[in-house]
Amino acid sequence: MKYIITGATGHLGQHVVQQLSKLTAPQNIRVGIHNPAKAKKFADAGYETAAVDYNDVDSMVKAFQGTDVVIYIPSITYQVKDRIDEFENSLTAIQRAGVQNIVDVSFIADQPNNPFQMAGYYAYLPARLASSGLNYAVVKNSLYADPLVPYLPELIERHNVIYPVGDQAMSFISRQDSAEAIANVAVKPYLRDKEQNYLLTMSQNYSMAELSHIMTKVTGKQIGYAPVSVARFAEIYQDEGDGSELASMYQAAAMGLMDSVTNDFAHITGHQPQDMEKFLTENY
Ligand SMILES: NC(=O)c1ccc[n+]([C@@H]2O[C@H](COP(=O)([O-])OP(=O)(O)OC[C@H]3O[C@@H](n4cnc5c(N)ncnc54)[C@H](OP(=O)(O)O)[C@@H]3O)[C@@H](O)[C@H]2O)c1
Repeated sequence: MKYIITGATGHLGQHVVQQLSKLTAPQNIRVGIHNPAKAKKFADAGYETAAVDYNDVDSMVKAFQGTDVVIYIPSITYQVKDRIDEFENSLTAIQRAGVQNIVDVSFIADQPNNPFQMAGYYAYLPARLASSGLNYAVVKNSLYADPLVPYLPELIERHNVIYPVGDQAMSFISRQDSAEAIANVAVKPYLRDKEQNYLLTMSQNYSMAELSHIMTKVTGKQIGYAPVSVARFAEIYQDEGDGSELASMYQAAAMGLMDSVTNDFAHITGHQPQDMEKFLTENY
């Protein structure tokens, strides 16, 4: 079996390359490269590399040819139409390259009433794949736990978690655990040949009171919970470029749409995911 990973050089993608290489030899892994400057590291480690541009079908046909499974990690484009265009181009290329199988990385925010700005993209994926003629599995991530680590110094300074989610809980998964599950789904046909739709989460969700308690314990600094409004949250992070997208996601969380917990991770990998306290303790 030969696998190609798109978005392979990104935060999640690098973990997927690493986890997949625990399950199959490097020569079975083709690393999709968007920015050519990022190819060398992977070539030096013994992986095949291939140019992949979601806006260039011909590049993707070449990259996908000779592979059995495409692991599709989308870009971080924050426009539903652009993300759908990128995915449609990729599907065209998969079909032209004669690949039969796709593992499609998605996100928890896919309900029809979810106000997250990207929810329309995630909602479209499973229905679109159902008509594609491909064998597929959709693997949805809950919130990555990883960005909480570099966020901790700011929270210590603020003395509070400020997410505008009220009393609602949110579900998390570490990128490493997500990648382990994605790699397992890719290499085990029985995990991806029945139109599966997985949701990867830790074995419990966390209210912000619980999360701030864990953060206090891990950092030794008092961190409470003082939610701001959705509008204020968007304003605070406006300069970082994704304030309104993030605010719309926490608006969804405040509606109780980001709190589902499943045992899909354990079902796929055979062991429990890392919990928040252990994750933060190991990575802070
Ligand atoms: N679950 C969560 O909490 C959460 C949080 C953040 C993001 N996400 C989602 O998870 C996915 C992966 O996130 P990430 O943090 O790994 O993102 P990332 O680090 O930005 O990685 C994105 C990858 O996509 C590649 N890429 C960008 N534009 C491309 C194009 N036009 N054609 C082909 N490849 C392209 C990038 O390559 P270059 O770097 O070479 O351009 C990179 O390898 C994204 O869809 C993101 O929206 C989820």
